[in-house]
Amino acid sequence: MDKRGYFSGFGGCFIPEILNETFEELVKAYEAAKADPAFWQEYIDVMSNYSCRPTPLTFAENLTNHFGGARIYIKREDLNHTGAHKANNVMGQGLLVKRMGKKRVIAETGAGQHGVATATMAARMGFECTIYMGEEDVERQRPNVFWMERLGATVVPVTDGSRTLKDAINEAFRDWVSNMDTTHYVLGTACGPHPFPEMVAWFQSIIGIEARKQILEHEGRLPKSVYACVGGGSNAMGLFSGFMDDPVELVGVEAGGKGLDSGKHAARLSSKDASVGVAQGYKTYFLQDHDGQMKDTHSISAGLDYVGVSPILAHLQAIGRARFEAATDAEVLEAVTLTMRKEGLIPALESSHAFAQAFKEAPSLSKDDIVIINQSGRGDKDIFTVADAFNDPAWKEFIKHKAEQYDA
Ligand SMILES: Cc1ncc(COP(=O)(O)O)c(C=O)c1O
Repeated sequence: MDKRGYFSGFGGCFIPEILNETFEELVKAYEAAKADPAFWQEYIDVMSNYSCRPTPLTFAENLTNHFGGARIYIKREDLNHTGAHKANNVMGQGLLVKRMGKKRVIAETGAGQHGVATATMAARMGFECTIYMGEEDVERQRPNVFWMERLGATVVPVTDGSRTLKDAINEAFRDWVSNMDTTHYVLGTACGPHPFPEMVAWFQSIIGIEARKQILEHEGRLPKSVYACVGGGSNAMGLFSGFMDDPVELVGVEAGGKGLDSGKHAARLSSKDASVGVAQGYKTYFLQDHDGQMKDTHSISAGLDYVGVSPILAHLQAIGRARFEAATDAEVLEAVTLTMRKEGLIPALESSHAFAQAFKEAPSLSKDDIVIINQSGRGDKDIFTVADAFNDPAWKEFIKHKAEQYDA
């Protein structure tokens, strides 16, 4: 880090003055926790007893044979409680909220996994909980909205702008400004004002620490490359953190949507369409027009449909430490289908971006090479989107029948 919260000039903390004290309190709590080995141990204990850590590193033998190149391993973040890596970050922040003595949490969510994880954490730790979600994402991720509400959270559909993640973040900040004495904003990714990018990356580093140890146990050597999808960048930062000082290639995969030439994508680091700007409290690459207005983004996966990106990832690209690619919606659907059929795994559409890119590259690697793909979450939540994409007749029949039952 250059100075507080800056990475190669990306990052920083651009907040309304009214939030200064709240951020100071958060920075202090985070720095004290980081300096206290007992805090990390408490975090590991919670994740081992309440979630499913360490998550396994699964050898994908059938996919490896299918492609005939690199040996493919899958880090199983889908096996966390609530089905995604988001659980790591929220449980960590929950422990900090306890230290700060606050009683209410708010969060933004795209795919809903962060929202479900936050609602779960709030239920367990006894906090009141409000989740902001773009109205479009409420529609795409209905199963997760159902669970958040059943877990006791209030879900607020946000109707501003493109009705996706960036609009939900704006709304959460508005809430925080009015309620900062009682409330902590559990930001869900490695973005936003300092200390969020660094703090979220720290909690997620548990993924990479485990993956490194596990691959050495399985194979006695390090992988050639590791692949993670990039929404805001938290699962990517988590996996990358384990291999930062090793000769291992770090590959982040963004949402190529309908293609990088179509304008309908959410590729910030892997396309030429993004530029550096300041928004939502930090400086990074944003998909914005010449006046700094945020553009509409598109992805088949709600969790990658974001206009900004982690300042730490922007820094890793700037110094040549990480490579960023994009996978299209069509490639992602192919990857999810192949993974289900060959391995019996159902990756989230977000995670399937990482699979799609690894599948493009694995065949041309040597049989001695190893790659690790981060399965950041499980795909159950995507059932409506995937069934639509494949025009599944039995599913349509089931939905029609359900609708008739409700009308009856
Ligand atoms: C399963 C899953 N993977 C990845 C992401 C993208 O977020 P990040 O880039 O912070 O890991 C999300 C976000 O909602 C998600 O639910």
